[in-house]
Amino acid sequence: MSVILDGKSLSLKLREQIQVETQELVSKYKKQPHLVVILVGENPASQSYVHSKEKACIKAGMKSTVILKEDTITQLELEEIIIHLNDDDSVHGILLQLPIPKHLDEEKIINLIDPRKDVDGFTDINVGKLNKGRSDALVPCTPLGITRILEEYNIETIGKHCVIIGRSQIVGKPIASLMLQRNCTVTTCHSKTQDMRGITNQADILVVAIGKANMIDETYVKPGAVVIDVGINRVEGVITGDVDFDRVEPIAGYITPVPKGVGPMTIACLLENTLTCYKRMESCKQ
Ligand code: GUN
Repeated sequence: MSVILDGKSLSLKLREQIQVETQELVSKYKKQPHLVVILVGENPASQSYVHSKEKACIKAGMKSTVILKEDTITQLELEEIIIHLNDDDSVHGILLQLPIPKHLDEEKIINLIDPRKDVDGFTDINVGKLNKGRSDALVPCTPLGITRILEEYNIETIGKHCVIIGRSQIVGKPIASLMLQRNCTVTTCHSKTQDMRGITNQADILVVAIGKANMIDETYVKPGAVVIDVGINRVEGVITGDVDFDRVEPIAGYITPVPKGVGPMTIACLLENTLTCYKRMESCKQ
């Protein structure tokens, strides 16, 4: 039996706090925080994520704009949209929903986003700041959400062995940086890792972000470990994590469910980052 890390409840609590702070600041600055999301193409999962982001923004008292573009958009057209949003004083956060079509240079477009408006924390500037441990880094939302869960449940990180499965830019790499900052010993496993079970069985904290439904069963987990499941996979219409919850839950110390674990925290942290960008930009204008 393990403690269920309830990301859904925590996300609602954080969103309420953000809503209250937003209301206070809107009175002060006479301006709403404004997030612009750009969605290219018609990927159904992306459409659903973008819709959830828009709804959450509005509920928090923020302004939300979604720019929808066809997947035939050219590199130059997309670059011009970003440049225009960078120059627009009423815009505090810019998010380019990924993935984008292959003919576009994703790296170049992301790095055109003004780092001060980079609510995803994907620009080289913010990635560099995060890796240097700078407190003014904008941190990618999913890894930030994971740290908020660990804080909420008072999970000790100092000296603990954190094993991460997955080395993506969105989750694996930034969570490694954040856990190192929190004085964990960090190991990252990936598709070429040898004896993965031998490594994951040493983990006090196991973060799984591989995108393969139910791949991690109890044979990968040390009894009593903290298991964070970042996976969102659709199996026969049902949302499933990367961790086989029914087999791991009896032996873990703590575990995030899917859904209602890490997922809702990503949105709460997007609002947090948008509010951070807004506060920094608007306080400079006073
Ligand atoms: N696609 C999947 N996750 C994310 C995310 O966190 N940010 C963006 N921009 N796109 C995504």
